[in-house]
Amino acid sequence: MNTFTVQPGGDLSGHVRVPGDKSISHRAIMLGALAAGETRVTGFLEGADCLATLEAFRAMGVEIERMGPGDVRIHGVGLRGLRAPAAPLDMGNSGTAMRLMCGVLAGQAFDTELVGDRSLSVRPMRRVTEPLARMGARISTSETGTPPLRVQGGAPLHGTDHELQVASAQVKSALLLAGLWADGRTCVTEPAPTRDHTERMLAGFGYGVERDGPQACLEGGGELIASPVDVPADISSAAFFLVGASIASGSRLRLQHVGINPTRTGVIDILRLMGARIEVLDTREAGGEPVADLEVEASELKGVVIPEELVPLAIDEFPAIFVAAACASGETVLTGAEELRVKESDRIQVMADGLAALGIECTVLPDGIRIQGRGHFDGGEIDSHGDHRIAMAFAMAGLRARDPIRIHDCANVATSFPGFVELARTAGLQVEAA
Ligand code: S3P
Repeated sequence: MNTFTVQPGGDLSGHVRVPGDKSISHRAIMLGALAAGETRVTGFLEGADCLATLEAFRAMGVEIERMGPGDVRIHGVGLRGLRAPAAPLDMGNSGTAMRLMCGVLAGQAFDTELVGDRSLSVRPMRRVTEPLARMGARISTSETGTPPLRVQGGAPLHGTDHELQVASAQVKSALLLAGLWADGRTCVTEPAPTRDHTERMLAGFGYGVERDGPQACLEGGGELIASPVDVPADISSAAFFLVGASIASGSRLRLQHVGINPTRTGVIDILRLMGARIEVLDTREAGGEPVADLEVEASELKGVVIPEELVPLAIDEFPAIFVAAACASGETVLTGAEELRVKESDRIQVMADGLAALGIECTVLPDGIRIQGRGHFDGGEIDSHGDHRIAMAFAMAGLRARDPIRIHDCANVATSFPGFVELARTAGLQVEAA
């Protein structure tokens, strides 16, 4: 299922529920494994990324049962119950898994090695290993600061005050997780708000986290208590459908049970600034996270200057937002988004190359992009560079294309959105995988 072919035109309509939230699913496995007692996770994302986390904990002696679709039962071993794995832990394509695991493994009595695929093996890891080292952790990287990582066990950790340079929920989470095994108090102050699922879920597992503006703190030496987790649908996966329905005239689509944590909803704000018609309906709470149904209708979009404060709140949604920008009237400008260059691919360059291949004029900036809206795409060939979100974003471009679009290297769509092609087809996208 490596190549997607999308026929031009169509619209998106009906009701769809996209798979579970990736960030929350990783954390549910981690905290469930480290809690005392049995944790039931429903709505779990059975994508390759979260399954890598699940297998890593199994390899460290945690019994995890897969009861049915999205239904997982974790027999937690407590904070001191993990055992040394027999082999390196393979985190596949997942930066979240690798970085959060650094925090967990730094607190263990045994040595571990973390490895990943080609994309993960060139992603920067010093952003977690250096602050963890200040807590006492001993983690080595390659000479260029990339995986494989070797975590030396048995190093005592000390609570530390961290001021993050990069707005990164992965770094914040790794440090808070390491803080569970540290003596004293671990605090993390972030330069801009980022997703706070770790803080919310720790609280849900009975672990006190104090939050004061940009700072989150916890005391080491406590205990996690098993607690059920209901994982909402992933707003990052819903984003492709929000964009698709916005750009395809005649669309009217309802996305069900989507997580709308305010640290994740930048995509709704940005699309609304562009003129999108998105309604948030029936807001409720599930497992400490706000969820809602999202209803989206086609509309005429206009180019905007994206406010920089929205960037961390929409960090994974820019490939989809760029497709919306290409369909808008006028120019869209993004700055302050250099982090996009170190995601599963360099999402600024790879998107710019793909947009250009489909006849869209754009200028690459060191920390963003300028996109001239054209209202439609030519057909053409796209190289997704193995990046799941690039592949899905360009699939949606088919709705406003004049000719077929072929997208190559799409296998990694399964990391975050298993069943994407089937679900998109039921909504009306004319896409096939081969
Ligand atoms: C994530 C944080 C973000 C995001 C990633 C998931 C998380 O990464 O891009 O897909 O679950 O904490 P950064 O923390 O590197 O921005």
